[in-house]
Amino acid sequence: MATKRASQTKIGRPVDTAVFPGSFDPLTFGHVDIITRSAEIFDKVIVGVLYNPSKNLLFTQEERVALIEKQFEKYKGRIEVVSFSGLLVEFVQSIKSRVIVRGLRAISDFDYEAQMALVNRKLAPHIETFFLTAREEHSYISSTVVKQVAMLGGDVSNMVPPVVAKALAKKYQERKGVGRRSDSR
Ligand code: PNS
Repeated sequence: MATKRASQTKIGRPVDTAVFPGSFDPLTFGHVDIITRSAEIFDKVIVGVLYNPSKNLLFTQEERVALIEKQFEKYKGRIEVVSFSGLLVEFVQSIKSRVIVRGLRAISDFDYEAQMALVNRKLAPHIETFFLTAREEHSYISSTVVKQVAMLGGDVSNMVPPVVAKALAKKYQERKGVGRRSDSR
């Protein structure tokens, strides 16, 4: 039976471009690690930044894209940042890829990630999801935790690249300014 199935298998063309999708609100060292490791495997990695106006995000679409571009500016051509909206599989197809890369930090990530991978496979059976396990030292990092710590004035330098840490400080400084102005009315 196994031999029959193996003999029926058709092997498609190899893939040179992978897509690493996400909200990136903001980019963390966990993301940076997965993007870098993917770029060591695939010729090109497209970081797909989801445009979702209904989600309450800290950084605008342009800001999230710009921060990732800044972080990877030396790798232009190998790592590119592209905004997308709508279905991920349609975006993956539009750039002629068939690989989605996702990072797994802990078992708790697995349910959601497996569900997403299965939905994507139902929608587009030829697209594969590859999971890379996060490095141990990044397993506690999430964009949500980073925003909480930064908002309360904590040090996020172990969690995000300097360019993001700076942007976070600026964002919360601006927000404090706005708060103070409206308090004084
Ligand atoms: O970083 P995130 O927020 O966990 O990324 C989630 C993302 C962007 C990969 C996911 O929400 C997504 O693919 N959204 C696009 C809509 C879509 O295709 N949904 C069907 C798969 S569940």
